[in-house]
Amino acid sequence: MCGIVGYIGNKSGTGMVLDGLEALEYRGYDSAGIALIDGAKGQVFKQVGRVSGLVKEVSKKKPEARLVMGHTRWATHGGVTVQNAHPQANNRQSIFVVHNGIIENFAEIRAKLKTEGYHFDSQTDTEVIPNLIDFYLKQLPTFEDAFKAALNDVRGAYSIVAVSTKEPETLYAARLSSPLVIGIGKDENFLASDPSAIMEHTKKVIYLEDYDVAVITKSKVSVHNLKQDKQTEPKVELLDYENEQALLGDYPNFMLKEIFEAPATIKTATLGRAQADKNLVKLGGLESVLRQLKFIDRIVIVACGTSYYAGLVGEYLIEELAGIPVEVHLASEFKYRDEPFSRSTVLLAISQSGETADTIAALKKVEDYGVLRLGIVNAVGSTIARMTDAGVYCHAGPEKAVASTKAFIAQVTVLSEIALHLGAESKNNPKLFKALLKELNELPAKAQAVLDTADQIKKVAEKYKDYRDFLFIGRHNAFPSALEGALKLKEISYIHAEGYAAGEMKHGPLAMIDASFPTFAIATDSPLLEKTYSNIQEIRARGGPVVAIATEGNKSIKDLVDDVIYIPKALDELQPVLHATATQLFAYYIAMARGYDVDRPRNLAKSVTVE
Ligand code: AGP
Ligand code: GLU
Repeated sequence: MCGIVGYIGNKSGTGMVLDGLEALEYRGYDSAGIALIDGAKGQVFKQVGRVSGLVKEVSKKKPEARLVMGHTRWATHGGVTVQNAHPQANNRQSIFVVHNGIIENFAEIRAKLKTEGYHFDSQTDTEVIPNLIDFYLKQLPTFEDAFKAALNDVRGAYSIVAVSTKEPETLYAARLSSPLVIGIGKDENFLASDPSAIMEHTKKVIYLEDYDVAVITKSKVSVHNLKQDKQTEPKVELLDYENEQALLGDYPNFMLKEIFEAPATIKTATLGRAQADKNLVKLGGLESVLRQLKFIDRIVIVACGTSYYAGLVGEYLIEELAGIPVEVHLASEFKYRDEPFSRSTVLLAISQSGETADTIAALKKVEDYGVLRLGIVNAVGSTIARMTDAGVYCHAGPEKAVASTKAFIAQVTVLSEIALHLGAESKNNPKLFKALLKELNELPAKAQAVLDTADQIKKVAEKYKDYRDFLFIGRHNAFPSALEGALKLKEISYIHAEGYAAGEMKHGPLAMIDASFPTFAIATDSPLLEKTYSNIQEIRARGGPVVAIATEGNKSIKDLVDDVIYIPKALDELQPVLHATATQLFAYYIAMARGYDVDRPRNLAKSVTVE
């Protein structure tokens, strides 16, 4: 998903916009560009590759302008070329547009504009936007009218920023399904895909809503909602995290920093919530829906990727603690199900970014079902946080690395709190209720204990860095841990890794096993440990190398496997938190040994805002 940054004010915005693009690099992109409007002149710089290359090119000319916008592109239509990089312009080079998302009906618009004499130089869907504005500007009195008319014609998902050489004081912005935030400064205003690009300049922000069109000068912001067809009074909110949180400190990259934030993440996700001394859990975010929660008889969880695996852990937690049936769906599949929904069913969306298009689509699908929609989100003020009726924030702070680490830890922690919250009502399992509350308070220290073994995990990981395939296996709530461990490895080391229920080995995967195909077995203490041992032995009997996670004190496993990573004893239901810290480090050290960019793995984006 790309990044957008914009500036209008009394100073030159060039440096701020380029810095902002660098702050958004973690979102994933393949090319970058900026447009500067200085008086009646427009200047564009575009590059394939890193923002640093663009910075180098711009610094040769040192262009100054008070109206500047920038873009990092994640190609959806048209290859990764300079021509296809943004900004895209109209034929007369008087209107420049940057765009995040997809214009679904771009082909018909392109065809219509061609009959009106327009030509197209790029393969992007985006290029229709500046030319469509140009087309309407010939018939309508103002740029704003033309901008709105063009938006009414396009279908799809977008955050768009447009500037014109005829309007050197104004940024025009629009949002539908793809985030865009306005930063309010003194005699200057900002635009960005997310607050991290502008938070060193202002903490006052306006989150644009779907169908919002904003007209922004250095001293004024006006917002019109196309769907409601009226001017709106946007709420100015204050950002609640400090700049240093988003900076690296003395870590080599964001991923390692965020892995090592696991203890703090658990603490902030339980602070004031999991109160073991009072044997209760308090979730302020659910206060407004307490009455409806009493009547729910089914929970449908929707999420993608790592968040989906957190949901699978939550399924066990909620069913055991609250006795409520739970099903977990991939959001991208949920859209196509004809799922029966009674009014006592809750839809629970889990998302770190709060901007994942598939998860948003799942929430939209049920919006007129009259069901309760809850969210577990990390990004405060994000789309999903604002679409849901209520929810619980992860409070993990900005997660910049594309591979989700601390967010998973926070999500499982919050899911256990929601399970406790629901369980308190049903008194379904008072013994487990008490034990889980106690464990939540001890978990930060146990996560720290896993982190303290990072050097040992590094040694084990480096032994396996050259394998081309990996199987991850686990039983019961270690099965989601296996799935998540496999995802971490594949997305940052590009090794083919599959997560599998250990009990499924004989139903197929065993055929793959030989000396070239290692298995990562999650074999921590549990009532099912003996069965996992049998799977390990089946694998070893066929020459498959095995590295296992085991509980401290388990000496016997050393005779069964090639390598062991020990983690502290913990309540079965919360072991996935500790499994994750170990598998994250395992994947991290393999990817580093292979020399890859762990923060920005190839082909991936931090938040997938296109379906
Ligand atoms: C996880 O490491 C990946 N970055 C990806 O699977 C991610 O979990 C998924 O895209 C969902 O993102 P979200 O939590 O922001 O919705
Ligand atoms: N669809 C546009 C393109 O391919 C924008 C992609 C993006 O979100 O960066 O250029």
